[in-house]
Amino acid sequence: MKSAIYPGSFDPVTYGHLDIIKRASEMFDEVIVSVLDNKKKTPLFSVEERVKMLEETTKDLTNVKIDSFSGLLVDYAHSIHVPIIIRGLRAITDFEYELQNAQTNRVLSNGTVDTLFLTTSLEYAYLSSSGVKEIAAFHGDISHGVPPLVEQAILQKFPKES
Ligand code: PNS
Repeated sequence: MKSAIYPGSFDPVTYGHLDIIKRASEMFDEVIVSVLDNKKKTPLFSVEERVKMLEETTKDLTNVKIDSFSGLLVDYAHSIHVPIIIRGLRAITDFEYELQNAQTNRVLSNGTVDTLFLTTSLEYAYLSSSGVKEIAAFHGDISHGVPPLVEQAILQKFPKES
């Protein structure tokens, strides 16, 4: 069985992430979407909340599993015996950061963990979780960027003052 890991912060999951997940699920027998539990960052959503939103928004994709991890990605990849990482590329600015990460993961894993890049569909190329959160903080429209259940969850984090 060919499996791949799609790791990320997913704080929160956007239509851009979901586009990558769907396309990856058509290429692999199994895609494990894994949320990084990064103790150094203060996310808007807890790991549990992010996992739940991913579970709900990918429930129609039967070969997609949601998980979480902490520490090094290569250690996680080894622990679940999946040597392929998927990452999405929106623009050249992503590429520099992603290339460095992919090369670092090759070195750390002695060449056993590889990264495959999928280019984000053009309609989502402008989207980012941080952009969505910034718009939401100012009570702007985020319906173009996230599914309704994620939109509701974000709105609860930024309630309008009455
Ligand atoms: O959604 P993000 O925040 O761009 O995802 C980044 C992620 C989670 C893929 C990356 O930060 C990561 O793999 N972190 C785990 C720590 C690690 O392995 N670092 C060394 C390789 S860069």
